Amino acid sequence: TRTVMSGAMIGKGSYRHFMQKEIFEQPVVIGDTLQSYVDPLSRRVTLPEMPFDFAQIPRLTASACGTAYYAGLIGKYWFEQMARLPMDIDIASEFRYREAPLPENGAALFISQSGETIDTLSALRYTRQEKQHILSIVNQPESAIARESDVALQTLAGPEIGVASTKAFTTQLVVLACLALAAGRARGSLSSEREAELTSALIEVPAQASYFLEREAQLIDIANEMADASDILYMGRGSMYPLALEGALKFKEISYLHAEGYAAGELKHGAMALIDEHVPIVVCAPSGPLFDKTAGNIQEVIARGGRVVLISDSQGIEAIGEGVTHAVEVPEVSPFVAPILYALPLQLLAYHTASIKGTDVDQPRNLAKSVTVE
Ligand code: G6P
Repeated sequence: TRTVMSGAMIGKGSYRHFMQKEIFEQPVVIGDTLQSYVDPLSRRVTLPEMPFDFAQIPRLTASACGTAYYAGLIGKYWFEQMARLPMDIDIASEFRYREAPLPENGAALFISQSGETIDTLSALRYTRQEKQHILSIVNQPESAIARESDVALQTLAGPEIGVASTKAFTTQLVVLACLALAAGRARGSLSSEREAELTSALIEVPAQASYFLEREAQLIDIANEMADASDILYMGRGSMYPLALEGALKFKEISYLHAEGYAAGELKHGAMALIDEHVPIVVCAPSGPLFDKTAGNIQEVIARGGRVVLISDSQGIEAIGEGVTHAVEVPEVSPFVAPILYALPLQLLAYHTASIKGTDVDQPRNLAKSVTVE
C-alpha cells in the first residue's frame, strides 16, 4: 500500500502558509528534477525511453489547464526555437471539444500537477482516439493521466498543498526545457556544445533561486502598494509573455484583485488605455536580445504616468534608469532559463499582497486544488 501525503500529514514548519513554504522549496525541488533529467558530467539531457522519435514527428499538440497551461505555453517557445518543432498548445477544456485534426504519427503532450484534472484527461483520451503518441508531465506518478500516457515524466516537486501552484510550475518548466533540448538534439537543430551550454544554465538555477529568495524583503514594500490597487497589469515579451500571464493568474487567485497579463507589443492595441497612476504594471524584462523592445514599451508606459515595477537583472535595471517606480533585481541568467527564475518574484508578489490583505492564501475562496468533476 502506498501512503498518500496530505496536508494533514505535512507541516508548515516555520512558514505561515504552505504556499510560502512551497515557494522556498523551489531551489531543492528544481535541483531534484534536474538531477533526474540531466547528466551533470556530460551536460546532456537523459530521458527515459520514448514512445516516438522527436526527429520523426511532424508536430507536438499540447494541452493543460491553469498554471500547467502557462508552463506549456513557455514550452512552446523552447520547442519551436531550439528544436524547430511546431507545437500547438491549447487550454484542455477548449481542445477537448474542438475536434482538432491531428497529424499522422503526431505526438501529444499533457501537463498536470495532479494528473487528475478532468478536462486534461478528456483531452488526452481524444488524442488517444486520434492515434497520437502520448507523453505527459505529472507530479503524481500514479494518477490517471500518468497511467493513460505512453510515457509520464515526473516533476519531483513533492506534495503541493497550496491551491495556487508554485513549485509544480517551475519543475514543469524544468522538464519542458529538458524535453525541448532532447528534441533539439534528435532533430539536429542543437549542437552538443549548445546543449552543454544550456544544461549548464539550467544547473545553475537552484543556486540563483536561493540567492534571490534570500532577498525576498525587497518585494514587501511593493506588495503593500499593490494591495491598494484594484487592477494590475503584467507584461513581457517572448517567453516572458506567458510568464506574465502566469504572474497575473497567481495574483488574482490569492489576492482577489483583478490582474491581467499582456504581451509587451500588444499593449498599445488595448491595455494602454488603462494606464494611469492607479494601475501598477509589472514588467519582466531580463537583459538579452528582446530587452530593447520591451524597454521601449516601458518608456511608453512611463510617459503616460504609469507606475512600473521592473523585474530585471542589474544590467537591465541600469539601462532603464530613472522613471520606474520599483526595480526588483534578479541574478543575470541566460534568456533560456529566465522564465524559471523570474517566476519567483511573481509568486512572492502575489503571496505578500495576499498576506497583507489577509486572504486565505492556501485555500482561496471558490477554488480547488484539483478540478476532477465537470
Ligand atoms: C486548479 C489549480 C491550479 C492548477 C489547475 C490545473 O485550477 O488551482 O493551480 O494549475 O487546476 O491542475 P493540474 O493538477 O492539472 O496541474
